[in-house]
Amino acid sequence: MSYPEIRPRRLRRTAAVRRLVSETRVDPAELVVPMFVREGLTEPRPISSLPGVLQHSRDSLRKAAAEAVQAGVGGIMLFGVPAQRDERGSGGLDPAGILNVAIRDVVGEVGDATVVMSDLCLDEFTSHGHCGLLTPDGAVDNDATLAAYAEMAVAQANAGVGVVGPSGMMDGQVGVVRRALDAAGHSDVAVLAYAAKYASAFYGPFREAVESALEGDRRTYQQDPANLRESLREVELDVAEGADMVMVKPALPYLDVVAAVRAAVNVPVAAYQVSGEYAMVEAAAANGWIDRERVMLETLTSIRRAGAQVILTYWAVEAATLLRQLP
Ligand code: PBG
Repeated sequence: MSYPEIRPRRLRRTAAVRRLVSETRVDPAELVVPMFVREGLTEPRPISSLPGVLQHSRDSLRKAAAEAVQAGVGGIMLFGVPAQRDERGSGGLDPAGILNVAIRDVVGEVGDATVVMSDLCLDEFTSHGHCGLLTPDGAVDNDATLAAYAEMAVAQANAGVGVVGPSGMMDGQVGVVRRALDAAGHSDVAVLAYAAKYASAFYGPFREAVESALEGDRRTYQQDPANLRESLREVELDVAEGADMVMVKPALPYLDVVAAVRAAVNVPVAAYQVSGEYAMVEAAAANGWIDRERVMLETLTSIRRAGAQVILTYWAVEAATLLRQLP
C-alpha cells in the first residue's frame, strides 16, 4: 500500500488555514443594492415574488439608503416606479419624476458615503413596458430612444447621481449618454454600461417590482442566451464609447460570460444577480430545501470568483452585514 505525500487536505483542516489560503473574498464595498421607489406610496410595500425586497416610499427609501451605508455596501442602484405611464416614458425624463426626485432624496441623505446609481431605461415609465420608444408598427426605435436616454441621463445627473446605468441595450447608448453628460457639464458622472444583457426569463420578479406592463419579450434588443462572443463585441463597443464599467446580466447562469469579459477588458466588471436568481434561492429556502445564508454567500463568492469585481444583488445589505460578522 502506498499513501500520497501531497495532501491538499492539509490546507483545509481548520477554519484558520482555510481563511489563510482563500482565493476569493466578497467585500461589502463591492456589493450594490438595487432599490425600488414607488410614486405615491406613504408606506413601503412588499413585493411578493421578491421576499424581503420593498417598493419604497420616498421616506422609507431615505431610511433604507442610510441603513445600507451603515451596513457598508458599495453602492445603491435606484429604480423608479411611476404612478402613471405613457407611450414615451416621459416620467423618466421629467425632473419632477419619481426616479429623479428619489435620486435627490438619496444623495441628500447619504452624500458621498456610498455610490448612488440610477437605472437609465424607459421600461419602468412606458405604458407598453418596452425599454425604448416604439415606431408606429410597434418596433423599438433605436435612434429615437437614444435621444430620450440622452435627456434622461442629464436629468439624473442634474439630480445628483454619481453613476448612470444605461440598461436598455440600444446600439450606441453609451456614446450618446457620455456626450450628453459632457455637453451638460456632467463629465464627472460615470457610466456603468449594462453591456452584455441577455433576454432572460430570470427578470420575472422584477416585472412585479416595477409593475411592468410588458407583453411579449425583449429579444430584438437584448441578447440571445446562446451567445458568448456577441457579449465580447458589445463590451468592446461600450468601452470604446466611453463606458467606465461594464456589466454582465444575469450573473449565475452567465459566469462564463463574466470570466470572458473580465479577461477581455481592463475596466471594472460588474455582474447583476437578478430578481429570478434571488427568488429561486428564497423560494427553495422557504421550503427548507437549502440553507439560505450559505447558498447566498456561495452564489456571491462564485460570481466574484468568475471575475466580477462589483456585484449587484438584492442581498447586498444582508450579505454585507453577515460578511462583517464572519471570522
Ligand atoms: C431595465 C432593467 C431590468 C432589470 C434591470 N434593469 C428589466 C429588463 O430588462 O427586463 C432586471 C433586474 C432584475 O431582474 O432583477 N430597466
